[in-house]
Amino acid sequence: MTAPDVHLVNHPLVQHKLSLMRERDRSTKGFRELLNEIGMLLCYEVTRDLPLEMVEIETPLSPMQAPKIAGKKLTLAPILRAGVGFLDGMLALVPSARVAHVGLYRNPQTLEAVEYYFKAPQDLSDRTTILMDPMLATGNSAIAAASLLKARGGRDIRFVCLLAAPEGIAQFHVRHPDIPIWTAAIDERLNDHGYIVPGLGDAGDRMYGTK
Ligand code: URA
Repeated sequence: MTAPDVHLVNHPLVQHKLSLMRERDRSTKGFRELLNEIGMLLCYEVTRDLPLEMVEIETPLSPMQAPKIAGKKLTLAPILRAGVGFLDGMLALVPSARVAHVGLYRNPQTLEAVEYYFKAPQDLSDRTTILMDPMLATGNSAIAAASLLKARGGRDIRFVCLLAAPEGIAQFHVRHPDIPIWTAAIDERLNDHGYIVPGLGDAGDRMYGTK
């Protein structure tokens, strides 16, 4: 088995904003704004190698061949609910992207992912799909979501998160070795409840103020 393809995004702006988000006393509003901003910065990184094609355009002065992104529109696939925190930031950079909503919740006893909603473009085979969830913890949700996207034909799938646990990276790689991961940090470990340590707590609760 090859090593997982993990891109650690160590840009100073990303690292600084992530540290602000980890702070216990960061407000719900501040947390959500920072997640949105980091979503934009991670989108920049994950789209870095998108193919370009030369097309004929007209400037005010002359015609020219200019590069534009080739192929079909991207699909952005947030895992509900915390993945939605990345979405607006990513859509600000790729406004014509399609959106696939993947509704999964974590059974608190088994930590298994349970599907409750899936709405995606019918055929993902010709689209780069960016799957997103701030926390790659056990890997169960990301694994289930990637399988749903593959069942719709998804082939070029990229997974973006804010924080990853080593256990989650390993599990995800076993099930989806073809999907590269972009993350702002790899933390120490998971605790007995499947939370990332030191982490930032429950991303969904912190985003929406539900605890
Ligand atoms: N989900 C979260 O929101 N936080 C964790 O630490 C793990 C999973």
